[in-house]
Amino acid sequence: MSEDKTYQVTMEEHEFIYPRYEFVAQANVSDPDIFERMSLDKFPYYYKEFADMLEWDEYWHTMLDTSDAPCWKWFVGGRLNASYNCVDRHLKENKNKTAIHYVPEPEGEAIEHITYQNLYMRVNEVAAVLRDEMGLKKGDRVTLHLPMTPELPITMLACARLGIIHSQVFGGFSGKAAGERAWDSESEILITMDAYYRSGKLLDHFEKAEEACKRSEEEGQKIKTVLVWQRYKGKHSSPTPLKEGRDLVMNDLIEKHKRVKVDPVSMPAEDILFLMYTSGTTGRPKGIQHSTGGYLAYVTAMTYIIQDVQPTDVYWCMADIGWITGHSFIVYGPLSLGASTVVYEGTPTYPDPGRCWRIAEELDVNIYHTSPTAIRMLRKAGYDEPDNYNHKFKLMCTVGEPIEPEVWKWYYEKVGKNQAAIVDTYWQTENGGFLCSSVPGIEPMKPGSAGKTVPGLHAVVYDDTGREMEPGEGKAGNICMRNPWPGSMQTIWKDRDRYVRTYYERYCKDPKSKDWRDWPYMTGDAAVLAADGYFRILGRIDDIINVAGHRLGTKEVESAALVVEEVAEAAVVAAKDEIKGAVPDLYVSLKPGFEPSTELEKKINATIRDVVGPIATPKGVWIVPDMPKTRSGKIMRRVLACVSNNTDTGDVTTLANPEVVELIEEMVKKGK
Ligand code: WTA
Repeated sequence: MSEDKTYQVTMEEHEFIYPRYEFVAQANVSDPDIFERMSLDKFPYYYKEFADMLEWDEYWHTMLDTSDAPCWKWFVGGRLNASYNCVDRHLKENKNKTAIHYVPEPEGEAIEHITYQNLYMRVNEVAAVLRDEMGLKKGDRVTLHLPMTPELPITMLACARLGIIHSQVFGGFSGKAAGERAWDSESEILITMDAYYRSGKLLDHFEKAEEACKRSEEEGQKIKTVLVWQRYKGKHSSPTPLKEGRDLVMNDLIEKHKRVKVDPVSMPAEDILFLMYTSGTTGRPKGIQHSTGGYLAYVTAMTYIIQDVQPTDVYWCMADIGWITGHSFIVYGPLSLGASTVVYEGTPTYPDPGRCWRIAEELDVNIYHTSPTAIRMLRKAGYDEPDNYNHKFKLMCTVGEPIEPEVWKWYYEKVGKNQAAIVDTYWQTENGGFLCSSVPGIEPMKPGSAGKTVPGLHAVVYDDTGREMEPGEGKAGNICMRNPWPGSMQTIWKDRDRYVRTYYERYCKDPKSKDWRDWPYMTGDAAVLAADGYFRILGRIDDIINVAGHRLGTKEVESAALVVEEVAEAAVVAAKDEIKGAVPDLYVSLKPGFEPSTELEKKINATIRDVVGPIATPKGVWIVPDMPKTRSGKIMRRVLACVSNNTDTGDVTTLANPEVVELIEEMVKKGK
């Protein structure tokens, strides 16, 4: 799939839509002067504005240290604590304000409004447990495998308070996936929960802990203790029993540390705040490493400039905290600004497609943030449903995948009632915060386009020869950032080489250089730059499938398929999907002596769900007599992708086995 993406793009550009006067009049940022202040010739000094949104224990002396390029160090010499900035600093004026509105999935359960004072108490108590019971200290890693309940942000902030590096694994991922990440990050402690609600069912989440421990230990990292939060305080809501000597109930431990205060540890700006694992092009997920000072400054500024969050706003980002969007825009950004943020446990369409709009109405949410997949789902399930509710959004955000202009329009007209400004924010786990978006109080929206780069960032699009492409060329190229920024990852955990290789090698002008100008950051996405400077993001140039806004490495799924004894070869391609954008479609060939069967298909499907998680569930498992291959024996995924998407496979005569393509096409067409 890494073929040339420098192709002519024919999709039409849409007309600009201007935000309403009412929005502009109240916006945090409405003076275009910001772009002048943050022009490239003033880099990096303008980032002082971002740093000054935080409270520092000790002010920094060096804005940007490039001596270890391309591992950029920001705000060197500064010290601060992220938990203090997100909690303590709001107590003086806002202790009774809601920090977190927690909405459980069952509508019969009361919404919990956690004030800043209450959040402060709870974060301290958890920090006391981590420090005094578990003996954890600054720099230790802890793996979290938590669902969307307040215990997740509270545990993250408790870690941050002590300088413990948290690594939250998406709750929907399997125990194995959690175990692999625990091993890679060398965590001795896993924090999980007994159960949580999803689509009306109380899921047994705790059963995954056993598998996580097993997997981590197989790789050589023993998890000594599993801390288990209770979904219902005072009772274990999972049919899987606790294991004596390993598992401890978090709620019981807290009882012993009621009202204990833990001083926030003053952290050098460059110390690690968290790891977030994401799919790479090779099998093993990458531990993306984010700093304390640079990351927090960046997400705070982005929440302010792009999300337009203000003190009286109620902000609902409907991502999962297990992804970077949730880290930056449910937890760290909004809480750093002292806003009220919403945590919703369940499925957006449960028990009916009006659920989101009821929550928005009840909590008076005025900023709403979600993904194209969720928007497509809500549009399909309840096209006119938003009409039935009196919610009123001033701003809405979309993130994670390209949004089709038709879907964008529904979002604008129905959900936003033709009143809300929309920002289409383009960025990645590696970036901490946004790369591209319009500034809603200054720039117009264009359906299907992510807008220009955000203030402070300067992009360049290269073609495959490394030539800088001109705006309006109408061709796709590789979008890169000319300059570093404070929210950018520091490196890949324990793998600097992979970091340099993946993001910088291709367009680096001089590998020995200490000058940031020689190190453009390669996103790995194809984009087209319109004459007006707006970017349309087309998708990955590497072997990553974007399923419902979540990155899935084709290698991850293929490796999982190969766990099945009968499977000889596996190839995964992206099949277009009406709701999720794309889903993996799997082709396998069998070892000699094995026969295809429906049972075997089911077994392969179940193994993938088990190893990677339900998110990787293949659309189809096609047991083929042979894979289409080049003469040198490489599997032609491109050809399989055409078959999966029912498009012309083109000229296949140069393949080693062209006849197999027709067989596979027939099989997929028949669905058998
Ligand atoms: C894609 C999610 C189009 C892109 C924050 C990127 C987008 C990958 C957009 C990162 C957008 C993200 N329009 N495509 N607005 N936002 N992407 O790391 O391919 O989970 O590289 O971060 O999602 O996914 P990740």
